[in-house]
Amino acid sequence: MATPASRITLPPLPFDRQALEPHMSCETLDYHYGKHHKAYVEKVNALIADTPQQDATLEQLVKQASGPLFDNAAQAWNHAFFWRCLSPRRQQPGRELDPVLRSFGGLEALKSEFSKAAVAVFGSGWAWLIRDSGGAVRILTTSNANTPLRDGHTPLLTCDIWEHAYYIDHRNDRGAYLRSFWELVNWDFVAGSLR
Ligand code: FE2
Repeated sequence: MATPASRITLPPLPFDRQALEPHMSCETLDYHYGKHHKAYVEKVNALIADTPQQDATLEQLVKQASGPLFDNAAQAWNHAFFWRCLSPRRQQPGRELDPVLRSFGGLEALKSEFSKAAVAVFGSGWAWLIRDSGGAVRILTTSNANTPLRDGHTPLLTCDIWEHAYYIDHRNDRGAYLRSFWELVNWDFVAGSLR
């Protein structure tokens, strides 16, 4: 019997779908995770089935693929990372993030710069806090499925700014979504990504 080819899997959410309310609704997670994220994973598996890429890891696909396979693989990776950036337990950044916060002029300045960049993205995309290959921590945005992982940066925090991330809860108000996002950031995960 042939060994089944490896497949990209939909990782479980690291919290219950109701756990982020009132900042992010169960209905949003039903659609965003249960339909959108799941669809990206299924599309990747359909595209790699019976091809030389069927045994590649998701990270390998993100770094090497192009066209629809890249788009869907990057969206699968970005969403898995995004869920890990959120927590139902309201947190303040730990001491280990002090140097990062200082480099922006404090937590409020970081949040303001990140939110401003996120709101300014035309159309769909992602806002990121990353550590670049030179070791500098900075904010950048990507459009559509694009991801700093592809460029060799270390992602520390992301916010999905596709309309499907906020239209149920905030309609067209991306700024209100960003304010809710800050109530949910898993700063322990950010610090862990920095190590
Ligand atoms: Fe999304």
